[in-house]
Amino acid sequence: MRLRCSKAVDVKRDMPKAVLVRHYGRLAARYDRRWQAYLAQTLGHALEALRVSGTERILDVGCGTGEFARMAVERFPKVSIVGVDAAPAMVGLAHTKLTGCSRATFQMSRAEALPFGAEEFDAVVCANTLHHLPAPRQALQEWVRVLRPGGRLIVVDWCRDFWHCRLMHYWVKLFDRTYTAMLRLGELRKLAEEFGLTVERADRFMAKPFYGMLCVSARKASLPAPLARQADEDVEPIAQHETSGSP
Ligand SMILES: C[S@@+](CC[C@H](N)C(=O)[O-])C[C@H]1O[C@@H](n2cnc3c(N)ncnc32)[C@H](O)[C@@H]1O
Repeated sequence: MRLRCSKAVDVKRDMPKAVLVRHYGRLAARYDRRWQAYLAQTLGHALEALRVSGTERILDVGCGTGEFARMAVERFPKVSIVGVDAAPAMVGLAHTKLTGCSRATFQMSRAEALPFGAEEFDAVVCANTLHHLPAPRQALQEWVRVLRPGGRLIVVDWCRDFWHCRLMHYWVKLFDRTYTAMLRLGELRKLAEEFGLTVERADRFMAKPFYGMLCVSARKASLPAPLARQADEDVEPIAQHETSGSP
């Protein structure tokens, strides 16, 4: 299987940053209203995949207007969420939307170069943004870097497995310069595995009005691979313990 966007890309040089900023600058104010039904479904799906129960710290990459953050703090009462986005107008709206909520903060950043240290987050979510990224491999590497061992990456995006999405690809490419490409479910799964993640959930679904979507939830190993192997070897077979005390 060949990954379409796997070539090394100088993101700073290649990313149409000015185009992106202009595009979302124009769209920001009506974004939530225009995409209401689509957002409810796709972000609902991401929330479902996320399903956390404690004080997890979550990073939302390409957070847009902060709609996912709004839904997440409402649904999960103890989590905190940091949203990053490259478009100032979207980050501005996210700030406004969640003013007064100390559990949600937002800042400007590119998805491929995050201003965070290693292993800072319990989960990284990227919804409806992967199709903008010229270097998904670079981005994924960065997301895995900021994920703590045992943490989860959740990606929801358009999916090239649907025939009408393959047609849509050419249409969107013509009219939207912020669009790069969409992946197949298998491509994203393979990419996640290349970075040492274990894919726990991978599914496709439809979002209104006609978008074919993918959702992948993948977990970073709890221990570095060599240590994990060693830990496995160190465990004595359970049967020995169980039978040793029996009559
Ligand atoms: C379709 S919107 C999705 C926003 C939000 N995740 C949602 O589902 O409503 C895509 C967002 O990704 C952001 N974006 C695109 N490329 C980006 C990049 N390289 N780094 C950070 N944000 C990016 C855009 O500015 C935009 O806000």
